[in-house]
Amino acid sequence: MKFFADTAELDDIRELAATGLLDGVTTNPSLIAKSGRDFMEVTKEICSITDGPVSAEVVALDHETMMKEAEKLRKIADNVCIKVPLTVDGLKTCKALTDDGTMVNVTLCFSANQALLAAKAGATFVSPFVGRHDDNGTDGMDLIRDIRLIYDNYDFHTEILVASVRHVVHVLESARIGADVMTAPPKVIHALFKHVLTDKGIEGFLKDWETTGQSIL
Ligand code: E4P
Repeated sequence: MKFFADTAELDDIRELAATGLLDGVTTNPSLIAKSGRDFMEVTKEICSITDGPVSAEVVALDHETMMKEAEKLRKIADNVCIKVPLTVDGLKTCKALTDDGTMVNVTLCFSANQALLAAKAGATFVSPFVGRHDDNGTDGMDLIRDIRLIYDNYDFHTEILVASVRHVVHVLESARIGADVMTAPPKVIHALFKHVLTDKGIEGFLKDWETTGQSIL
């Protein structure tokens, strides 16, 4: 399963890239606003840190303007992936861009039927939002299971990009189900490293090592 970082914070992206775990980045207008940075500039910098897909989202609602925005965004770097909302105009834009060889991430997917539409429109990625489903009282991971089943039934090549990931159990379940990608805030990716027995183990080994009086260096 590929790991994308869901952030526009450059230091966090650099740190994750150094671990070798980072396969791409997703941003959205809220994350850009939070970064306080210029959209074009920050996207360009992210694209220089990772070779993987970097999702940059259009903000227009109509197909024609979405295409104009996408045209500007895709000039930033070869690894820009245009993010469009799951609407009629969004899917028209998806079809036009993917026919032209541009990567597209169809975002704000909340149902398996919507994911079916995204795949039929040729999306490179579909982003089902699991955390927002959970917030709304339904199990977001059920949606991922349904999409995996449907995509496998028809051999769709659209990658399932689990989004709105809030905690490590979302990551575990995504991997169990066979999602292609998950995108998470850096703090969730860092939490994957943690285990109390790892910390305890290090502590015990170091305590015993001290009794040897030896040094490696
Ligand atoms: C995905 O591409 C979105 O940027 C993101 O995962 C949304 O997450 P949120 O529901 O925590 O805002």
